[in-house]
Amino acid sequence: MDRYLEIHAAESSDASGGAAEPALTPQTKVDPRLLVAGKRRGWFVTFEGIEGSGKTTQITRLFDRLQSAEEPVLLTREPGGSPIGHRLRTLLLGTEGAGLTSLAELLLYVGDRAQHLHEIVDPALAAGTHVLCDRYLDATLAYQGFARGLDLDYIRALHTKPPLDRRPDRTILLDLDPELGLTRARTRNDDLGLARSEGRFEREALAFHRRVRDGYLSLAEADPFRVRIVAAEGHPDEIEARVADLLSDLFPVLDVEDES
Ligand code: TYD
Repeated sequence: MDRYLEIHAAESSDASGGAAEPALTPQTKVDPRLLVAGKRRGWFVTFEGIEGSGKTTQITRLFDRLQSAEEPVLLTREPGGSPIGHRLRTLLLGTEGAGLTSLAELLLYVGDRAQHLHEIVDPALAAGTHVLCDRYLDATLAYQGFARGLDLDYIRALHTKPPLDRRPDRTILLDLDPELGLTRARTRNDDLGLARSEGRFEREALAFHRRVRDGYLSLAEADPFRVRIVAAEGHPDEIEARVADLLSDLFPVLDVEDES
């Protein structure tokens, strides 16, 4: 069952009134750009990385941690964060998607994003809910741009008008050697019986994944304030601590020193 849709279903049954405001403490530094008509919007945080980099584990841990601290937070992903997007995900990642041209593939990812932003992400942010998104625009630049060879400027040009001009406040890039990532991803897919339905990118050659990784690293280099690189080797607890450290300015509840 899809964890992300389960979470959406739980959230939407509770969507009658205005969402709770995030707790504002005296230490909270509010960026004026985040004030929507006097109301603070949520932070938009994305997680990126090659297959098997552990981003889904880490984003879920962060979500659980913020939720237990009673922060208003939504966990979502691309592709597949909206009900229509869920169908696009099956098409994009399943065997049916093998016949897509690179351009058609790109436009379906962008279509998924437009629907996701309109239906899920933007309303949540405007209501003051933080949004954690597993993959976003950097994935399109890394996979369809750097790895498949589509023009980066063209991809960027598709993202210049609302709602597609939304940019993350922070991006965590879980960086890993593609050889290690692919071994992990294949083992996981076999364990979950996902090899056929979700194996499209895992079947690409190692060289493809190297281009994805190098693409991500150059995106991070070009935007070092937004994109923070985390070495994704080591125990998940260690990686979780590194991620928390890189987000504690946005979420003071993650500051370990504040917890005592
Ligand atoms: P994801 O669910 O994160 O897969 P995994 O957990 O196996 O890493 O992402 C699904 C696939 O979609 C992944 O191989 C990357 C690809 N993708 C793109 O190629 N372009 C995009 O714009 C996005 C959002 C994802």
